[in-house]
Amino acid sequence: MRIIKAELERIAVKPSQYPNVNLPEIAFAGRSNVGKSSFINSLVNRKSLARTSGKPGKTRTINFYNINDEFRLVDLPGYGYAKVSKEEKEKWGYIIEEYLNSRENLVEVIQLVDIRHSPTEADVMMHNWLKVYGFKGIVIATKADKINKNKYSAHIKTIKNKLEIEDLSLIIPYSSTNKINIDKVWDEFYKILNKKEQ
Ligand code: GTP
Ligand code: MG
Repeated sequence: MRIIKAELERIAVKPSQYPNVNLPEIAFAGRSNVGKSSFINSLVNRKSLARTSGKPGKTRTINFYNINDEFRLVDLPGYGYAKVSKEEKEKWGYIIEEYLNSRENLVEVIQLVDIRHSPTEADVMMHNWLKVYGFKGIVIATKADKINKNKYSAHIKTIKNKLEIEDLSLIIPYSSTNKINIDKVWDEFYKILNKKEQ
């Protein structure tokens, strides 16, 4: 994909602040610190477009990134971060749910999990929700650079079993550091956006 434009178009915590519904949106959901913001940066090849941090809880708003005036990548706050207060957790949960439940131009939600760890109950809940609402259920297994390649299949199997995914091709190991499988990810996005490869 040739990225001509990648811009933070809007920061929102409620629907009245969302941008216009004129462009299709692909959103990224996953636990805090799993690498959602890093994933967006690596995909569009901009080092610090989306703010990232080693500390969980960096993204606390919905950030809409306009790509080539063609579609948006939507960075959601992370869920399931244990160290924030109950009120804060509820606030983030509400911000995410409100977006997912109401956004008419949302064409796909991609779930991110850490390839090294078994998905949590919050991940299972998110995955089930995605399936119920008719999304494909694509899972990006992040931080793949942190394990040896010959361990991929065992880790992928753990994710498959925990999330009860039948089609293995829905789970894509990825690394924002070395961009393994970036072509595969873009292929999926082309399909989602009904675009020919560029
Ligand atoms: P929240 O905004 O808190 O929900 O987190 P996030 O999911 O956006 O995670 P973020 O992209 O901020 O990354 C969290 C940490 O993991 C940062 O220190 C990143 O540098 C690191 N990280 C993200 N992706 C990768 C990856 O593929 N490989 C490695 N080695 N580190 C990564
Ligand atoms: Mg983030």
